[in-house]
Amino acid sequence: MTMWVANGLSQDLPSGVVMAGNWQGAELAIWRSVSGRLAAWGDRCPHRGMRLSHGFVRGETLSCIYHGWTYGSDGACSKIPAHPTMVPPAAIKAEVYQCVEADGVIWVGPAGPEADLPDLSGMVAVRSVSVLGDVAALTRALPGFVADGALWRGQVGGVSVSLVVQARGAGLGLHALCGAAAHRVAVSRWLDGVVQLVEQEALT
Ligand code: FES
Repeated sequence: MTMWVANGLSQDLPSGVVMAGNWQGAELAIWRSVSGRLAAWGDRCPHRGMRLSHGFVRGETLSCIYHGWTYGSDGACSKIPAHPTMVPPAAIKAEVYQCVEADGVIWVGPAGPEADLPDLSGMVAVRSVSVLGDVAALTRALPGFVADGALWRGQVGGVSVSLVVQARGAGLGLHALCGAAAHRVAVSRWLDGVVQLVEQEALT
């Protein structure tokens, strides 16, 4: 079954921007073209391995920052600046992952058939934070929340809150959504407190 991993909120990745991400230990470059198309690739240029997340978006392509090799939305190399008249071989291609957006969250999975995404319908994106702590520390910091895989749900001041949890290096990414747009500011402040609590708990 497809294992989806949240890599951010849609609002975290505007058009024309590339960011680093991950999927089950694999490092990724996740980018959005100028027209809004989303893609997730292995974070390694097929030329000499530079991180594609350090590259730059031009229109509907992503270019590596090292020698400028350029890749189209299907991951295939479309241009090698040092050989401007050459058509790049089809084998030169970034490693493509499945990347979709639903309910304001960017999800990554392996290439293949789509499985069901976690249901976050009706929820409103708040913001994403990084925290230095693990799931055990998060569990102690949020005793009223119920975890279903990476999706944690609870109530904050009478408002439904969902946290989508992502492993991020030595810590976690917390992607927060709430049940009503009018409560986004309050939930965002609450989230600051959660970061402090988790980091305190991680030290105990
Ligand atoms: S390493 Fe990417 S273009 Fe050379």
